[in-house]
Amino acid sequence: MNYPITRPRRLRQNKVIREMVKEFSLDIKDLICPIFIDETIETRVPVKSMPGVERIPLKDVGEEADIIESMGIPAVILFGIPSRKDDTGSEACAPGNVIETAVKAIKKKNRDLLVITDVCLCEYTTHGHCGPLDMEKETVNNDETLDLIARVAVNHAKAGADIVAPSGMMDGMVNAIRSELDFFGYKDTILMSYAAKYASSMYGPFRDAADSGFSMFDRQTYQMDAANSDEAMREVRMDIEEGADIIMVKPALSYLDIIYRVKSEFRVPVAAYNVSGEYAMIKAAASNGWLDENKVVRETLLSMKRAGADMIITYFAKDLAKML
Ligand code: PBG
Ligand code: ZN
Repeated sequence: MNYPITRPRRLRQNKVIREMVKEFSLDIKDLICPIFIDETIETRVPVKSMPGVERIPLKDVGEEADIIESMGIPAVILFGIPSRKDDTGSEACAPGNVIETAVKAIKKKNRDLLVITDVCLCEYTTHGHCGPLDMEKETVNNDETLDLIARVAVNHAKAGADIVAPSGMMDGMVNAIRSELDFFGYKDTILMSYAAKYASSMYGPFRDAADSGFSMFDRQTYQMDAANSDEAMREVRMDIEEGADIIMVKPALSYLDIIYRVKSEFRVPVAAYNVSGEYAMIKAAASNGWLDENKVVRETLLSMKRAGADMIITYFAKDLAKML
C-alpha cells in the first residue's frame, strides 16, 4: 500500500492547530446594521417577512443607535419611510425629512458610530421606482434622477452622514454625487457605490420593510441582469473612476463570484450586501427546525469574507454580535 506522505488532515486534528491555520474569520468590526426609520409610526412595528427586524419610529432612532453601538457594531445604514410620497420623490431632498432628522439624532449622541445613508428615491416615489419615470419608455429618467440624488446626498452629508451610498444604478450617479458633495465642501464624505446591483428576486422582504415596492414596470432597465459578470466589472471600473471609495456587490450569496472578481481585479474595499431574501430564507428554515440558524449564519457570512468582502451589510448584525 502506498500511504500518503502529504496528509491535509494533520492540520485539522485539534482545535488549536485549526485556529492557527485559519485563513478567514468573521469580525464584528466588519458588520453594518441596517435600520428602517418610519416617520409615520409611533411605536416599533415588526417586519412580517423578516422576523427580528422592525421599523423604528423617528423618536426611537437614538435609542436604537445606542443599542447597536453598545453591541460593538461599528456602522449602520439608514433607510427612511417618509410620510409623503410623490411622482418625483421630492420628499427625499426636502429639508427636515426623515433621514436628515434621523442622522442628526444619531450623530448628536453616537459620534463614533459610522452612519451610512442609502441614497435613492424609491421609498419616496408613489410608483416605487428609483427616480422619476419616463412613461413613454417605461423606465426611470436617468439624468433627471442624477440631479435629484445629488441633492439628496448633499442633504445627508450636511446632516452628518459619514458615508453616502447611492443604490439606484443610474449611469453617472457616482460622478453626479461626488461633484455636488465637493462643490458644497463635503470633500471627506465617503462614497460607497452599489456598483454591481442585480435585478434580483431576493429583495422581496425589503420592499415590505421599506415600503418601496414598484406599482408598474420592473427594475430590469436599470439593475443588472443576473446572467452577466463582465458587465459588473465595467460598472465597477466606471464607479472607481468617478470617485467611489467603496464598491458594493448586491445581493451577496448568489453573487460570490462577482465579489471575488471585484476584489481580485480591482483590489479596492468591497462591501457585500446580505439582502433581505437571504435573511428570510435562513430565518424561515431555522424556525421550522430544518437548519441550525447560528451555524448557517456564520457559514454564509464567512463565505462572503472568503470571496473577498471587507465588510458586510446584514440584518443578522445584532444576532452575530451576540454570537461573536
Ligand atoms: C433601494 C434598495 C433596495 C435594497 C437596498 N436599497 C431595494 C431594491 O432595489 O428594490 C434591497 C435590500 C434588501 O433586499 O435587503 N434602491
Ligand atoms: Zn431605489
